[in-house]
Amino acid sequence: MGETLENHAARVLGSIRPGIPADAALREYLAGTRSLGAVGRRSVSRAVFSYFRWLRWLEPGQSAQKRVVSALDRQARFERDSSSVKVEALAARAVPAWLGVEIDLTAGYLRQIQREPTLWIRTKIGTTAEIERSLGACERPVLPNPLSAPAGIAALRYRGTADLHRAPGFQSGAFEIQDLSSQLVGHACAPQPGETWWDACAGEGGKALHLSDLMRNKGLVLATDRSPRRLSVLRRRAARAGMFNYRAAVWTGAGPAPFRTGCDGVLVDAPCSGVGTWQRNPHARWTTSTDDVRELAAVQAALLARAAPSVKPGGRLVYSVCTLTRSETSAVADGFEGAHPDFEPAPLAIAAAPEVARIELLPQDLDANGMFIAAWKRLR
Ligand SMILES: C[S@@+](CC[C@H](N)C(=O)[O-])C[C@H]1O[C@@H](n2cnc3c(N)ncnc32)[C@H](O)[C@@H]1O
Repeated sequence: MGETLENHAARVLGSIRPGIPADAALREYLAGTRSLGAVGRRSVSRAVFSYFRWLRWLEPGQSAQKRVVSALDRQARFERDSSSVKVEALAARAVPAWLGVEIDLTAGYLRQIQREPTLWIRTKIGTTAEIERSLGACERPVLPNPLSAPAGIAALRYRGTADLHRAPGFQSGAFEIQDLSSQLVGHACAPQPGETWWDACAGEGGKALHLSDLMRNKGLVLATDRSPRRLSVLRRRAARAGMFNYRAAVWTGAGPAPFRTGCDGVLVDAPCSGVGTWQRNPHARWTTSTDDVRELAAVQAALLARAAPSVKPGGRLVYSVCTLTRSETSAVADGFEGAHPDFEPAPLAIAAAPEVARIELLPQDLDANGMFIAAWKRLR
């Protein structure tokens, strides 16, 4: 790598500022340091993220380089033996104090978010075995109670070291990098070929692409987002994946839907505090506030209310957020139900029990992001 790992990481840390969080700073730095290679890039990312996982254990008076070395050392010790750090210490130092008001800080949760995250891929239907063979180092997920393995689940855990963005299967659109919990949102929607689905917060298209694949490219996915930049990434990914059954349009969420179609299903994968991603993106633990949680809960409620009229009678509305705070998840779902007597809770296709209409996916249960999903059916 030439330059030391701690020097690279220290430079990334030095470029973080308001509006440029760790993941963006890393992307920018790595794009400008091509000589690093795949292994070097991964090492720098690991160092930066370890730094933020162990931030409150580090000596503020030390140089950034020394703190990076110390964080990597703590990470390695923890990976070898997670009981080497007491749960009380994790509760006090691994997360901000306000989190304890919003979620249950169990030992399992706290230990999980201090580990290195797992890389999950989603293969297109029918290509799983082939991708597994060509990539190697893949494992199929085991879904614990209260989940049941949905038909067509095509997730693989990748334990190898190859740069997946360069793998032929990625470039041909046969697989995407997508967290397991995020894939379970698509399965919870369970769209059928020929249906019309509106992905109201489609962003860069992670879930829209999955919906299209589950629909076997038949029917229509209306993909909207308030960000034209994100939609242009979605279009690029759709072209790579051979996804044709979609239309993309800007929708800021401020007014009604940008089309008149009644939909068989609407997915509101709403903007959220992202607490469920704090294992993968630990810098956010130190930049997210209770104000963010409160404001985003209000945005989620507004988006749900504006998207709901596009669900046709008998159709389904699915709300998902990659967070676990009560103010966003269950409080928003309760608020929606209270204000919309024309919607009733609808069973989730991913749940083992038929009456489950809301589910919290916990990082420690799935070795994946935390996620909340709720579904309703519009009454006739
Ligand atoms: C969780 S992300 C969506 C991720 C995407 N569904 C995926 O699977 O890749 C939430 C999206 O909501 C969009 N959005 C739409 N209306 C918004 C609003 N009023 N405020 C904030 N974000 C909004 C954001 O641009 C962002 O892309």
